[in-house]
Amino acid sequence: MRPPVRVFSPSLVTLAVTSLLAFSTHVVAEPASDKPVVEQIVDIQTQLAKGPYKGFRANHAKGILATGTFTPSPTAANLSKAAHLQQTVTPVTVRFSNATGVPAIPDAETNANPRGIAIRFALPDESYTDIVSISVNAFPVTTPEEFLGLLSAIAATTPDSPKPTPIEQFLGSHPNALKFVQIPKPAPVSYTTLSYFGVNAFQFTNAKGESRFGRYRITPVSGEQAMSQADLSKAKPNYLSEELTARLANGEAKFRIAVQLAEPGDVIDDATAVWPDDRPQVELGILTLNAVVADSAAVEKTLAFNPLILTDGIAPSKDPILLARPAAYAVSVGRRFSN
Ligand code: HEM
Repeated sequence: MRPPVRVFSPSLVTLAVTSLLAFSTHVVAEPASDKPVVEQIVDIQTQLAKGPYKGFRANHAKGILATGTFTPSPTAANLSKAAHLQQTVTPVTVRFSNATGVPAIPDAETNANPRGIAIRFALPDESYTDIVSISVNAFPVTTPEEFLGLLSAIAATTPDSPKPTPIEQFLGSHPNALKFVQIPKPAPVSYTTLSYFGVNAFQFTNAKGESRFGRYRITPVSGEQAMSQADLSKAKPNYLSEELTARLANGEAKFRIAVQLAEPGDVIDDATAVWPDDRPQVELGILTLNAVVADSAAVEKTLAFNPLILTDGIAPSKDPILLARPAAYAVSVGRRFSN
């Protein structure tokens, strides 16, 4: 049996870092490598999770699938000519997940944040398009190289590391990463009582050829709800998947999908550059979930969500984090499909 991943939280900074992705006490950072950066990132994500775990994702390993529909709002077509934003109802598959590459991470653990949502829209021409978002409105770093630096610093930090530790040094020289780890990330009552954010910007183009840059915001129609500390201390390891299964057996769960629009001068190619909340939002429509997939654990292994599976009317920004994601996901997918 695999040893459980060990937790250490000797300082506020380290505690905050545990909410970032994952951490370890006995992982040695890899030396400089000739491998592509994205492959090094996946290697280190796997190391930090004490993996590999056969068939599981290198990040967001624990998840659950649900199905439902997306109904576009009347204003959605003004923003984009994408097929699912015209006046048709689109079938969707959604995967909710916990952070880290640890498949059995208890849902109440700090490291299980941020949570993820991956949404696949089945388009009329039998192609599909995905949205892949997290429950924090920010990313810690601007480039994949910096992301590797962050993960390497986490991996190189042990309880015995002399001060300042590698992660303290990294956070000290990367204020956006420090800001990210300090954002409160309370555990939700349900995967469906949490807001999710696209973080990376996309370019939306309508039938008249007008384009706007924007970021997805996916908010629960019935409002956000976080666990109290008392309830969290009693929470079962899989409380989130059990709650979702019970909720959808008895009814539906709805999210509003919107796009926050950039204004002239807003930075659109940096996932750390969060836009002010007062930027206008266009409502794209309502996501309604009505069932958990019966054999979710088996089916999720066959799926590979990817934020750059796009459709006509939605295009990527030049954000280097966004552009690095497909290659990183492909490394993870290749390993889990071949294991
Ligand atoms: C360079 C930056 C990033 C890297 C290297 C990275 C890496 C990964 C990897 C390796 C996976 C597993 C893929 C698979 O096996 O299917 C994954 C999944 C995921 N990532 Fe990222 N990621 C990055 C940025 C982001 C960002 C910015 C977001 C959200 C805005 C995000 C959200 C997710 C989610 C929700 C999943 C789970 C998808 C699913 O349910 O299948 N990631 N990521």
